[in-house]
Amino acid sequence: MRRGSVFQLVVISLLAAGIATALALIPAWLPEEASHEAGRINFVFWFVTAICIAIFAIVAAITVYAVLKFRASPDDEEDGPPIHGHTGLEIAWTAVPAVLVTAIGVVSAVVLARNSDAGPNPLRVDVLGQQFAWSFTYPQQNNVTSGHLRLPVGRSVELHFQARDVIHSFWVPQFGQKQDTVPGLETTLVITPKKLGTFPVVCTELCGLGHAAMRTQAVVMPQAEFDAWIRERSQGGEGARDPGLAVFDSAGCGSCHALAAARSTGETGPELNDLAARAEDAGEPLEAFVRESIVEPDAHIAEGYQAGVMPKTFADLPREQLDALVKFLVDSSRSREE
Ligand code: CUA
Repeated sequence: MRRGSVFQLVVISLLAAGIATALALIPAWLPEEASHEAGRINFVFWFVTAICIAIFAIVAAITVYAVLKFRASPDDEEDGPPIHGHTGLEIAWTAVPAVLVTAIGVVSAVVLARNSDAGPNPLRVDVLGQQFAWSFTYPQQNNVTSGHLRLPVGRSVELHFQARDVIHSFWVPQFGQKQDTVPGLETTLVITPKKLGTFPVVCTELCGLGHAAMRTQAVVMPQAEFDAWIRERSQGGEGARDPGLAVFDSAGCGSCHALAAARSTGETGPELNDLAARAEDAGEPLEAFVRESIVEPDAHIAEGYQAGVMPKTFADLPREQLDALVKFLVDSSRSREE
């Protein structure tokens, strides 16, 4: 009889484990694994999942078996037999979870330590989060600045985060980690991309009206392509861009404003294609109107938009960047009119 019970318990627990395993494996729960750090985090995830499936199978088997075997008949009004505990069982259900939780703790600690180790020669990227855009600066590569995060495949990257205004949070799902950017505090994150491709960069901390638009891309490319891109972006290099367009991109204007000349499509703020007409409505010369709208965003509010949405931080742009930006916006507006 006992042997029959054990056999039944084993069959039920294998069945439960099979169903749980299928549910864990068949839908693609996790994003594509594009960094070594994500691989390690996923290992911890699967390690914990395997433990959970084993425990679920045992609990499910005992529950189902007990319901089927020890069901009281409808007219049974008796108390159950008094039970005074079972020392062996109690030791087991204390010791086994203690061992499992310790194992999870050790595995997690090892993964955390390895994931925060950037190695001897990481590529450094300074990341600035601001309402409502990311910008990336490469201090070891002539301070090249970009609105996209470009990374060479296979090299450890150390991201250093700063926030200009409020708390944001940097997340590339395929890289497997998040990091908050906090005003007045420098935070860091190590990423070692292992797959070529383009992945979304999203802000995962509610940071204002344009939070949902605070997105850009992380592009993982071969080292040679990355080097060529750095050369192209470096000052005076071939294909150097309009300095005002560079400011438009790096300051993140395009994440909120649509402007044909910058190929941006943001919708949080008014589009910037008809600035000349709007300056006329405001009764101001075009250049003065553009400059004022950047450094003092609430001076003129476009129809259908609210005051207090555009950050006032653009008044802090270095003088030459602000001048280049104003010139770029004025030129792009004038060239449309012609
Ligand atoms: Cu920045 Cu949400």
